[in-house]
Amino acid sequence: MVKRIYNFSSGPAVLPLPVLEEAREALLSLGETGIGILEHSHRGKAFLSVYNETVALFREVGRIPDDYEILFLQGGASTQFFMLPMNLLAKDQTADYLVTGAWSEKAIGEAKRYGNTHVACTSKDRNFCYIPKTRTYSPRPAYVHFTSNNTIFGTEFFEEPAVPEGSPLICDASSDIFSRPLDIKRYAVIYAGAQKNLGPAGTTLVIIRKDLVERAPKDLPTMLQYRTHASNESMYNTCPTFGIYVMGLIVKWIKNQGGIAALETRNKAKADKLYAALDSSRLFKATADRDSRSRMNVTFVTGKEELDGEFVKFAEKQGLDGLKGHRSVGGMRASLYNAFPAEGVDALIDAMKRFESQHA
Ligand SMILES: Cc1ncc(COP(=O)(O)O)c(C=O)c1O
Repeated sequence: MVKRIYNFSSGPAVLPLPVLEEAREALLSLGETGIGILEHSHRGKAFLSVYNETVALFREVGRIPDDYEILFLQGGASTQFFMLPMNLLAKDQTADYLVTGAWSEKAIGEAKRYGNTHVACTSKDRNFCYIPKTRTYSPRPAYVHFTSNNTIFGTEFFEEPAVPEGSPLICDASSDIFSRPLDIKRYAVIYAGAQKNLGPAGTTLVIIRKDLVERAPKDLPTMLQYRTHASNESMYNTCPTFGIYVMGLIVKWIKNQGGIAALETRNKAKADKLYAALDSSRLFKATADRDSRSRMNVTFVTGKEELDGEFVKFAEKQGLDGLKGHRSVGGMRASLYNAFPAEGVDALIDAMKRFESQHA
């Protein structure tokens, strides 16, 4: 097999090896069917059984109650930025947004096209390096939206924000879904692009409470109504078959690892170790405030742009890829999603120490 290296990419990102191996087999033949997963009709028996198994696994592993739909959509999380207000925000209503990074800025930007918006809090004053503790809501928000993990700035919510009584809570969980157990009942909608913790790019998971599905105006374009997808098991049109298949394998892998709670323990250990190394370093420094540090995306700098660039190149030579920070923040970012191995964190810390001894 080709040598695999440590992939710190923020997404598409590292996937579990056993999943990739099984998918490789299925490319040629799904089970004993003699037809590859990419070639099966989405209406055929073989794929329908993949779909049903995937949904059942999501319900079991993600503890998703029966009064929630599980939808596999397309257009990325970015399509949810407008599909949500299109379906759930009337012109005379106000939706509240917790603005904690570039992705929540984009989300509120789209909502403005459909109704009123209100910024319940923002951390823009310090370049989004923290999760604000104080939030001020509008009197009766149509919903409250937050981004549970800020992929670019390396901050994360570890508790759902308290919202006004009866306000639906909507979460963009693209970069931390299934990295720790969630009490789904606290949410009205959770959505996530698949390309970090769930599988290949091209599929978006939407978990939506059933009563909200019916709330949308019926004159929206058919493909942009949640009810279309809910009443057709995500198969109104040709669904992203390969994405759904791999997502099923991923959730099965999570189950075999001991479930989401077991992954949380591992994710915490990986991130804690890296932050501890950063805190004791004479050269590197984490950029997020301590109480807001993400377990999924660890952002850090040397303080000198040129040195950051040198470190990224140095790390690449040791087989540590994808450490360059997002272009809007610079520095470094180590993405430690569910499938990222603990040994990769050790290798990064080792590289940091060696670089530090040459440059600090
Ligand atoms: C938190 C978050 N939300 C939304 C997006 C956009 O996702 P997509 O590219 O699937 O539209 C990303 C992409 O990285 C993200 O990290």
